Amino acid sequence: MIPLSPTGLASYAKAKGKYIGSAYDNAYISDSAYNQVVFPNVNQLTCENSMKWDSVEQTQGDFSTTLWADRVVNITILNGMTLRGHTLVWHSQLPSWVTGGSWTNATLTSVMVNHITGEMTKYKGKIHTWDVVNEALNEDGSLRTSLFYNLIGETYIDIAFKTAKSVDSAAILAINDYNVDGTGSKSTGMTNLVTRVKARGAPIEQIGIQAHLIVGSVPTTLSTNWNNFVNLGVSIAITELDIRMPTPATSANLAQQATDYVNVVTACLNISKCLGITFWGMSDAHSWVSSTFSGQGAACLYDESMQPKAAYTAVQSLLAS
Ligand code: XIL
Repeated sequence: MIPLSPTGLASYAKAKGKYIGSAYDNAYISDSAYNQVVFPNVNQLTCENSMKWDSVEQTQGDFSTTLWADRVVNITILNGMTLRGHTLVWHSQLPSWVTGGSWTNATLTSVMVNHITGEMTKYKGKIHTWDVVNEALNEDGSLRTSLFYNLIGETYIDIAFKTAKSVDSAAILAINDYNVDGTGSKSTGMTNLVTRVKARGAPIEQIGIQAHLIVGSVPTTLSTNWNNFVNLGVSIAITELDIRMPTPATSANLAQQATDYVNVVTACLNISKCLGITFWGMSDAHSWVSSTFSGQGAACLYDESMQPKAAYTAVQSLLAS
């Protein structure tokens, strides 16, 4: 076990009332070089993949297999860290029995309720916050057409949150999305959606802001937007932060990235109901960016060789100040 360092990011953030976390997974447990940059810095983890539906309920109704996620759960318990449950209802990374099923409104509702109930029961008491619904919105702020939306309608979100509350009332229940960093149509869509769902009595308690950002293009309206969210009576969290650039990285872009990271972290520090920040991986060696966005990378605080970048030093100084 590698302890949190007194100069690690989370040590400083704790003193400011925030947590610092990272995406992590079973795949990295034996990577000692990576563990040396993750664990000294964080007091929170999110499973990058192994709590998604296609991992947790590979066969309908079966939550009994020993899962990769269980190993990460144990690490958080042994290290006194919190764990974000990611994610219960999402259009992506679904098992084929879900995507290939011929469902009706009633049968899909039952499948969704069973999934939420099974997964949350399995990990009850071990999860600080659940991403109950992930990526429900289109860029224009309308509801994304997904299996769940198409068959159940917008109230799939209400049902998901009400079910989650009934299973684990102690966990914070979040709706999580990307491109809801600054103000704009998607953020307005989020505000309107959360307002409608809450008005119908379903307990959305947090808006998760993924924050997959681009160097030099971080919105200037982070604070305005996040205060708008908090004014809905929810907390917020930065859930999947990374800031990508064209590869190979230039020194100018690495310097800009440090500024960009500082701006994001500052905006969270200035909002008391911004609970913390999760980086979507600590090192460019284990980031989803290069395999997802062609020609892009270098998005994390540590480089491919596990060396701290200018962005790391800048964020560390900011948190320590
Ligand atoms: C990504 C993982 O990082 C990849 O390893 C996987 O192949 C695809 O999913 N939004 C989310 C995360 O909510 O679950 C995604 O994670 C990144 C975008």
